[in-house]
Amino acid sequence: MMKNKVVRLTKRPNGFPSKETWSNSIDEVREIDKDEILVKNLYVSLDPAMRGWLNETRSYIPPVKIGEVMRAGTIGEVIKSKNSKFNEGDILSGWGGVQQYSISNGEGYFKVPTTQIPLPTYIGTLGMPGMTAYFGILEEGKIKEGDTVLVSAAAGAVGSIVGQIAKIKGCKVVGIAGGKDKCDYVVNELGFDGCVDYKNESVVRGIKRECPDGIDVYFDNVGGEILDAALVFLRIGARIVVCGAISQYNEMSAKGPNNYLSLLVNRASMKGMVVFDYAKNYPTATKEMSQWILDGTLKSKEDIYEGIENFYEVFKKLFNGEKKGKLILKL
Ligand SMILES: NC(=O)c1ccc[n+]([C@@H]2O[C@H](COP(=O)([O-])OP(=O)(O)OC[C@H]3O[C@@H](n4cnc5c(N)ncnc54)[C@H](OP(=O)(O)O)[C@@H]3O)[C@@H](O)[C@H]2O)c1
Repeated sequence: MMKNKVVRLTKRPNGFPSKETWSNSIDEVREIDKDEILVKNLYVSLDPAMRGWLNETRSYIPPVKIGEVMRAGTIGEVIKSKNSKFNEGDILSGWGGVQQYSISNGEGYFKVPTTQIPLPTYIGTLGMPGMTAYFGILEEGKIKEGDTVLVSAAAGAVGSIVGQIAKIKGCKVVGIAGGKDKCDYVVNELGFDGCVDYKNESVVRGIKRECPDGIDVYFDNVGGEILDAALVFLRIGARIVVCGAISQYNEMSAKGPNNYLSLLVNRASMKGMVVFDYAKNYPTATKEMSQWILDGTLKSKEDIYEGIENFYEVFKKLFNGEKKGKLILKL
């Protein structure tokens, strides 16, 4: 019998998850039934959303149940198939979870083309975060040439792509990131026009310096005080894309913005988005972004750590800022 190392949710956290939130176990891999596939997971996607899936509250997706394998996006290889849609050797993206092997009926799994683009990119820029960036900034941000776009968590999986797409579309782009190294990366490697280092300067003063004429779009990945600061600088008709609020995910009750009346004064809008709503249009985004990656217009960075045993230590990097680009666990 083949062995499967598995990470399960054992306890719902109050505040920041601890090591005891999850447990590691070794299961046996059973035989597959008719219409099933056995996938060997190669890469596991680590996302801030995982923190939300631990809470027993109503959301856009049900919480992970106690005792269940921790939900996660994966890239893996089919090693056994009794499903006519998939062959052994196919590389698939799907929701394999934090485990070495997963068995499923193939629902929610998609074949990943084996092109010149490296596999981990298919859970980063060509996966969920990249789709979020593409549809968030184009469909919700409704950017046009000459707009000033501000994006938080700018060195991260979503933010780095949002900013680069806005540059491609002729916008002025300013990032917000934690620390000099990340700000240098955002400006010098990703080509943003400026960056505010929220860990070492006043965000209000930083936005004022970088966006003296105000902002047309704020792509919000972090919420909290940074959202409040951005609200101060809205131009007439500005759009705020509420993509995430990572600064609030480990708080017992999330705080809303104080400066919301700026929306009224500036006839501005603030709208939430969930990437899954765009699923039927993912192929369009994949095609366009693949081309940008191949011709060097769009830089995709993956930060990859190894070993399922290290899940918790690597997960923490989402919140302590110890990573750039898309965080991935290689199994
Ligand atoms: N709505 C959707 O459908 C959707 C889909 C995907 C992701 N999201 C959201 O998009 C956001 C970004 O996700 P991602 O996958 O791209 O993650 P990420 O940016 O790659 O990683 C998270 C980053 O957030 C920053 N951060 C952490 N704690 C912070 C705090 N207290 N204040 C300010 N910044 C903080 C850190 O960067 P620094 O080092 O710069 O602090 C960290 O690297 C998250 O809020 C996520 O939930 C939403």
